[in-house]
Amino acid sequence: MIKTEDLFVRFSDGSGIRYRDMCFDTGRSYALLGASGVGKSTFLNLISGVLTPAEGRVTVDGEAVSALPQKARDLYRIRRVGYIFQDFKLLEDMTVQDNLNLLRLEGVDTAQMDALLDRLGILRLKKRRVNRLSGGEKQRVAIARALIKKPAIILADEPTGNLNYETGVEVVKTLLLNAGEGTLIAVTHDDRLAPMFDERMDMNAVAEWIPGGEARQHA
Ligand SMILES: Nc1ncnc2c1ncn2[C@@H]1O[C@H](COP(=O)(O)OP(=O)(O)OP(=O)(O)O)[C@@H](O)[C@H]1O
Ligand SMILES: [Mg+2]
Repeated sequence: MIKTEDLFVRFSDGSGIRYRDMCFDTGRSYALLGASGVGKSTFLNLISGVLTPAEGRVTVDGEAVSALPQKARDLYRIRRVGYIFQDFKLLEDMTVQDNLNLLRLEGVDTAQMDALLDRLGILRLKKRRVNRLSGGEKQRVAIARALIKKPAIILADEPTGNLNYETGVEVVKTLLLNAGEGTLIAVTHDDRLAPMFDERMDMNAVAEWIPGGEARQHA
């Protein structure tokens, strides 16, 4: 179970976002909806430990991961979280298979990797360099890279943003299948895909923008 409590993140300009307490059960899938700029990506960054909250905490199965030292937090993310970033963060000069191999667990063999790529419709691109791929192809490489390490927690930031509806449905099905007994939290703007998740959460009602001191002075 993932819990957020009294979560507040502050940006360098003094502004920040406060989040209502949230709870995500193990074995369930969640669609996060909400306006652009409301704080969805920031929320995933807090859960994954990419960002450190100024106040409050993120706990995973009772452990306050947001309070761990940087190294332990990085290990938590590497071992347990499959994070599909909104901007992919792939290694552009490397091939698809090399991007995946960097995160592949020892127990995951090439046949399993190929099956995952095939399911996502990108097996034929395996030996291509990422910087030669289209946006939708890169998006699916980012998904494969997140899933190859069989993470207990999958965080997906608009995983279907660059895909047509039919491919988007396949991708969401693949995410749900791979989430299995774990937890899947996906940001989506697509009202047609949101019903595929167990629960839908409106982040407009969860995140509150707090202006910084500097912003107030200039206002
Ligand atoms: N490092 C930063 N410094 C200042 N403001 C920031 C920073 N990072 C994010 N913000 C602001 O926080 C708000 C939330 O950003 P975030 O990226 O979480 O939005 P989002 O809900 O993911 O939007 P979108 O749907 O467009 O991806 C935005 O107003 C953004 O400008
Ligand atoms: Mg975002």
